[in-house]
Amino acid sequence: MRTSVCDMLGIEFPIFAFSHCRDVVAAVSKAGGFGVLGVARLTPDELETELRWIEKEVGDRPFGVDAQIPAKLYGDESGAELPREELEAQIPERHRKFINDLLARYGVPELPPQLSDEKLPYTIARDAFSREKEVALLEVALRHPIRLIASALGPPPAHLVDAAHRKGVRIAGLVGAKKHVRKQLDAGVDLIIAQSYEAAGHTGDIGGMVLIPEVVDAAGPVPVLAAGGIASGRQFAAALALGAQGVWCGSVWLTTEEAETHPLVKEKLLRATSSDTVRTLSESGKPCRQLRTAWAEEWEGPDSPGSLPSPLQWLLCADALERIQRAAYSSEGARKLMGYSVGQVVGSLNEVKPVHQVIFDMVDGCLNVAQGFADTLSGNEELDR
Ligand SMILES: Cc1cc2nc3c(=O)[nH]c(=O)nc-3n(C[C@H](O)[C@H](O)[C@H](O)COP(=O)(O)O)c2cc1C
Repeated sequence: MRTSVCDMLGIEFPIFAFSHCRDVVAAVSKAGGFGVLGVARLTPDELETELRWIEKEVGDRPFGVDAQIPAKLYGDESGAELPREELEAQIPERHRKFINDLLARYGVPELPPQLSDEKLPYTIARDAFSREKEVALLEVALRHPIRLIASALGPPPAHLVDAAHRKGVRIAGLVGAKKHVRKQLDAGVDLIIAQSYEAAGHTGDIGGMVLIPEVVDAAGPVPVLAAGGIASGRQFAAALALGAQGVWCGSVWLTTEEAETHPLVKEKLLRATSSDTVRTLSESGKPCRQLRTAWAEEWEGPDSPGSLPSPLQWLLCADALERIQRAAYSSEGARKLMGYSVGQVVGSLNEVKPVHQVIFDMVDGCLNVAQGFADTLSGNEELDR
């Protein structure tokens, strides 16, 4: 397989994997795709450890990182970052009480004090969006042989684009609407990721069938990757047919053998149908597609005080979400509340596979579609004659 992004990044298959799990990132790059580590939940020291490990695992295979660098920040018109204490002080008591009552109602136990410093083996949302933190993380990333930095939540800042380009590192920008493309191009991105409504995580409200060709047209010569709802060869082929030069997938890796997904979440994902996700404000304060859980439903219920704007909602919920994860094995209530970001394609994730098998199936399926089209269309041509 060879599209423009294969040449740009030195990969065999134009399949990109967003993952918080280093094992997935390495396995994708080793299988001929491009692994991208989500850094938003790491500290700079943790990132250093993860990148060293990936580097050793993949040898000279390419890989990258993804950061959430918010273009707009809450609370200060000038865009400066408010200190955490000031943000915390803005969280209304009513919201804190709602969470405490919710956890009590679902019987989620308090954390034993000695546990609070112990790191969970599963990734969770710990921090609010922070521009300062993301920039510190990217400084670490640029000391490693990464080939790509993807930036979500707005165009990347000029100093980051310059620093990356000086080192030959490409920059990708995520967009959820055609109108965002111009700003990304002006910021100097080398690649655009068109992330549609179906996708896991922070999504816009336009479906892929409409979004991808619109973004491809707006991006001109800059290549576009399609994101959202892609987990099979047929979906991969459809993305290429819409003009994308590759695919950017997140959900499909969550149920792979290598993924560090909480085992009880993995079970929920394997059982879920494509109707079992919801775009909710209840974790981060921005529309984020997640598994439909009691947590998301309670935030929509009659007693809910309503979600707070980002990043206050994130600050409000981070401890509670950690408490829920830690209690999941012992508390049925915690299991009902526990969810994760996942896209609508979860309905087709019904078995655990190794990463290399996912890639093989996607490539093989895509080639079958292409061959099928070639056969059918040439057959039709003969009939027309
Ligand atoms: C668990 C999870 C967390 C995600 N977090 C981020 C993130 O921090 N930054 C980001 O750019 N995208 C994030 N995404 C979205 C992915 O980058 C990707 O665009 C999306 O998963 C593609 O749609 P799909 O889930 O249908 O494959 C996340 C996806 C998942 C599954």
